Amino acid sequence: MSGIRKFFQQARPGAISLGLGQPDFPTPDHIKDAAIDAIRNNLTGYTFNTGVYELREAICSKLAVENGISYTPDQVIVTAGAGEALFITITTLVDEGDRVLFADPGFVSYEACAVLAGGRPDGVPLDDTLHLDVEACKEKMDGAKVFVLNSPANPTGTVEDPGTIRAIVEYAADAGVTVISDEVYEHFIYGKEHASAARFGENVVTINATSKTYAMTGWRLGYMAAPDAIVGQAVKVHQYCQTCATSISQYAAIAAYTGGNDCVRMMKDEYAQRRDLLYDGLTRLGFDFPKPEGAFYMFVPMERELFQAIINAGVVIIPGDAFGANAGNYARFSYAASRENITEALKRIATVTG
Ligand SMILES: Cc1ncc(COP(=O)(O)O)c(C=O)c1O
Repeated sequence: MSGIRKFFQQARPGAISLGLGQPDFPTPDHIKDAAIDAIRNNLTGYTFNTGVYELREAICSKLAVENGISYTPDQVIVTAGAGEALFITITTLVDEGDRVLFADPGFVSYEACAVLAGGRPDGVPLDDTLHLDVEACKEKMDGAKVFVLNSPANPTGTVEDPGTIRAIVEYAADAGVTVISDEVYEHFIYGKEHASAARFGENVVTINATSKTYAMTGWRLGYMAAPDAIVGQAVKVHQYCQTCATSISQYAAIAAYTGGNDCVRMMKDEYAQRRDLLYDGLTRLGFDFPKPEGAFYMFVPMERELFQAIINAGVVIIPGDAFGANAGNYARFSYAASRENITEALKRIATVTG
């Protein structure tokens, strides 16, 4: 069980959760309607292993228009969420003993997938502002197999500049390292621009999902897009563990990717207001940390005693060490929670910060 889920089970009744990394919005109606139509039209059988062609076309248009990167439908595999895309990509690329790099602290799956593939996970420490330090990345890159890049990042909420992403991709290309770019939070950035790693080199696998963007975590719909040689191998892993992503979710995803992003902008604006509310509240209470630029997380420095006191006061947050070896004195707050709940959580935290 991941550190996050284990922790959740200990929450007391009545606790306010700032723990889960899950949008609290309903899936937009036009997407739900497309799924209902798919059921009524009996689009409920297996699809191609790689996914419904029309969906892969829609994903390629999205990647061209929103991200400025070029893939063909044959270079896309539709998966059961970004989670499966990460698993099959890492399983495909990593052999026994290969080193897999990722930010520490970072999203929990990277280390686990590396271990399951027989590889050696190797966390890259972040700088004082919780951003990637290009020199620290370069130091670890020689002899490594894969670098997993995640911007905007879970758990830190940081967004890397295009220059940083370019430097990592280019150095990786020279070192023979494949970059896996996990972009599931790309739409939730407050004041900066998202830069897709695949803009800067051919040695990149792009991973994304409908999960966070369209509030569809339970639909299990994501994808990987990669050069032909990698897709050709990854589809073998995918077909034996998954066959295909759920057909109904695939038709829903076509509506998501072709239906315009007004719904996404609405969610982003709301997250931005919640971010201000939580950040202002925490800094007023004496917490001192840079304002995170993306996703819906704050990674807040605090001693373990204070962390425990906040839990005891009835606010669920996640201990930093769930995300790696370098984050014991931090806690992750998620602001994918209503403003009302954030306000109440701040009141409860105020009772223990003195
Ligand atoms: C950075 C990151 N990547 C991937 C995932 C998994 O996404 P999905 O629900 O699409 O499998 C998550 C979920 O929390 C995440 O935070």
